[in-house]
Amino acid sequence: MSVASEVKTGFEFKPGLEGVPATLSSISYVDGKQGILEYRGIPIEEVALKSSFVETSYLLIWGELPTQAELAEFEHEIRYHRRIKYRIRDMMKCFPETGHPMDALQASAAALGLFYSRRALDDPAYIRAATVRLLAKIPTMVAAFQMMRNGNDPIQPRDDLDYSANFLYMLTEREPDELAARVFDVCLILHAEHTINASTFSARVTASTLTDPYAVVASAVGTLAGPLHGGANEEVIDMLEEIGSVENVRAYVDKCVAGKSKIMGFGHRVYKVKDPRATILQSLVEQLFAKFGSDKYYDIALELEKVVAEKLGHKGIYANVDFYSGLVYRKLGIPTDLFTPIFAIARVAGWVAHWKEQLGENRIYRPTQIYTGSHNAPYIDMESR
Ligand code: ACO
Repeated sequence: MSVASEVKTGFEFKPGLEGVPATLSSISYVDGKQGILEYRGIPIEEVALKSSFVETSYLLIWGELPTQAELAEFEHEIRYHRRIKYRIRDMMKCFPETGHPMDALQASAAALGLFYSRRALDDPAYIRAATVRLLAKIPTMVAAFQMMRNGNDPIQPRDDLDYSANFLYMLTEREPDELAARVFDVCLILHAEHTINASTFSARVTASTLTDPYAVVASAVGTLAGPLHGGANEEVIDMLEEIGSVENVRAYVDKCVAGKSKIMGFGHRVYKVKDPRATILQSLVEQLFAKFGSDKYYDIALELEKVVAEKLGHKGIYANVDFYSGLVYRKLGIPTDLFTPIFAIARVAGWVAHWKEQLGENRIYRPTQIYTGSHNAPYIDMESR
């Protein structure tokens, strides 16, 4: 028996594929040293200030800003497709109310493929219909699970409300405040796309097999759910609660640094400065607090950011998008375990854009590996083991 200990392939192994280009893409751009993020070349600050989530989705998916007529048509289609089949609703009713909403969303997104099973990946009308369905129905499914796990019937979508206002309405059956709806919409814009991160990579790998777009989104949802990716925004709130007061921040950071444990909402594979989305989100938190009153967790967050910069700034560890998004959602009264599903609602735009781009020049993903196991190992009979 010999052990393949040396690398004979000539390939260098990069854990986490750090720095390894996995695709060509013109959807978004990140410069992690300068803290730049662009959607189709437009700085995120501009998009967040001037656009809506639906328009941003159009930009990401079709590559350019829509005309007024194109946007109106896209918005109309999305409004028209917001309802979900009663069989999907009934299926979701059977989900355990203790289950995580991300698991419910992954299962429901995959179930869409059962109802819209025609797969015509070379037909632009099919691509458009699937895009609209995903953008329209995912928020309805997230809100429906939230209502049903609390023993209530889902709230029907309202055609007179825009994308974000309708989602907030379906969560509470109350028409949201205008500022709250706009802030939420900006949060969706900020989370809509971010180059080839883990969930987008999942989406592209799945897309490359030429499966249906619902499977593409379901696999991406599963990847987003982990605490090192989309799940971090939930953990930020748990962490702020655990810290409990501004006075405890320094000791908390010291403990994490000494124990080499990760402080949630900080650090990023690409950004080595503060994530530009965190800066925009911080200003949104402030707008909400100015209108609806402050929150002691914001003071803890500010102190935490300061102390982390002091202790870990030399390693390029600064606040990421998840650090402030939780505070925004908390102020909007959204339960913590819906933070990641909301991230998914937004990221559907990016996943669909990558699905479409992948189809444009597809080759199935099939990387290599460096084998580290043994060769010619004996098969040991059961009685001898
Ligand atoms: N707290 C403390 N130290 C950290 C943190 C953190 N949040 N992030 C990285 N470090 C340290 C590591 O301990 C390591 O130190 P070392 O070189 O002394 O061993 C160094 O920085 C590099 O860290 P890696 O884990 O190798 O960085 P990687 O690029 O693999 O991970 C990640 C990036 C996963 C985001 C990481 O920073 C992390 O776990 N952060 C906390 C979770 C989080 O907020 N995730 C959300 C990311 S944004 C998003 O997905 C939308």
